[in-house]
Amino acid sequence: MAGKAGITLDIGHLMADTVGWQYGISRGMIGEREDAAKAAFEAVKKRRGSGWLGWTELPYNQDDIVQDILSTAGQIRERFDAFVVLGIGGSALGPVMAQQALNHLRYNELPKEKRGGPKLYVEDNVDPERMRSLLDVIDIRKTCFNVVTKSGGTAETMSQYLIISELLKKQIGEGWQEHVIATTDAEKGNLIQLARKEGFKRFIIPSGVGGRFSELSPVGLLPAAVCGIDIKGLLQGAREMDGRCGSGDVWANPALMEAVLQVIAMEEMGVNVLVMMPYADSLKYMADWFCQLWAESLGKNVTRKGMAVNVGQTPVKALGVTDQHSQLQLYTEGPYDKIVTFLRVEAFRDEVPIPHGCEEFPDVAFLGGKTLNGLIDAEYRGTQYALLRAGRMSQTIHVPEVNANTIGQLICFFELATAYAGELLDIDAFNQPGVEESKIASYAVLGNTGEKFRKKQAEMADVPEPKAEYRLG
Ligand code: PA5
Repeated sequence: MAGKAGITLDIGHLMADTVGWQYGISRGMIGEREDAAKAAFEAVKKRRGSGWLGWTELPYNQDDIVQDILSTAGQIRERFDAFVVLGIGGSALGPVMAQQALNHLRYNELPKEKRGGPKLYVEDNVDPERMRSLLDVIDIRKTCFNVVTKSGGTAETMSQYLIISELLKKQIGEGWQEHVIATTDAEKGNLIQLARKEGFKRFIIPSGVGGRFSELSPVGLLPAAVCGIDIKGLLQGAREMDGRCGSGDVWANPALMEAVLQVIAMEEMGVNVLVMMPYADSLKYMADWFCQLWAESLGKNVTRKGMAVNVGQTPVKALGVTDQHSQLQLYTEGPYDKIVTFLRVEAFRDEVPIPHGCEEFPDVAFLGGKTLNGLIDAEYRGTQYALLRAGRMSQTIHVPEVNANTIGQLICFFELATAYAGELLDIDAFNQPGVEESKIASYAVLGNTGEKFRKKQAEMADVPEPKAEYRLG
């Protein structure tokens, strides 16, 4: 995976001839999967833009939408002091990821002139203390709320909407609707109906774009544009990566290779944990976004034909260097059940020199004259080496610089890898029945009177309570 400003996937430390024959993946193992990989590539290619693969076309088919987003974002930047996203899962993790990657790391704390846009809050939980704390720091009269839900009915998001809309009605009265933007499906769900009734500004999540694949739709593009992020650059980066993944040959398609390697690791080596470890704070939430994508897409109990399987890798988020001091001990000496994926930034957007000093302490003084940039990179190399010495597999995605283009590349790379892995595992990577079950059960607990919730209440009532002696303390 090369190119002037292209991210590159370095799989050297996964390979048996580097990490050791008993621990790594051989070229032969990859060779045995090449036909399946080609078939997976063709299957994804054939379904591009249809069914639940609408997201593959987002980098290409949104010219008018981008214009609308940019002009709406311009108005929001002029009028509001805060922009609050009300959404959860795929409706929240992408906006958080892009903001952390592409804006000042302490954006909300900057003075308004330096920010250039409103403060951003992404509210992806229904913790009452969190909601109260948000209301304590925003001025609702100067805040725009973006309600984001693909299904249009997620309880967490809609309860937030109920709270906020009541406050807006009370505090603003006429014209409160101008403070709400709905991002949702064109037809399905309650939010679109509500939005039509109230006359909210609307952005549509196209059909075929599920929550976790929606970052390059208005779900991610609107908050990004509001905060001054180059959304055309994001889409351009995604197109570039898509172009680099245009072959059914694993050695010419990095996302396909990534899928093949992880499936080999799962199926042949029992490697069921994938640690995503960026060595850059800006990419910290790329790990969160990836974890949802990988976990919700690949963690399935049946194949597409309904055969029981129970597949999936557990994604774990880590941050270099911080988690060297909390998780690395496990990765170097614990079970041989993990691959560590490093995200390494080649050129940071800042350089911080370390001054000379403490000459009487050689182990401190040697740091003088170096930079934090050199230190973080040396720590990445040290960790990669420690894993190698311990016979543990790792891989590195080198990011030339964190910018809109490379973030677009990473989004496209991981989304395609996920789709290919779903094909190779013969599962439906685009549904989430395990999440639905919990949603229905929660609504049943809350007393929703719809038929399926009443049935669930009855089913839950039949489950015996665990014995009292199991509750300790
Ligand atoms: O990827 C998904 O589909 C989910 O994680 C959803 O994003 C999440 O459940 C929120 O759903 P919705 O966007 O319908 O509110």
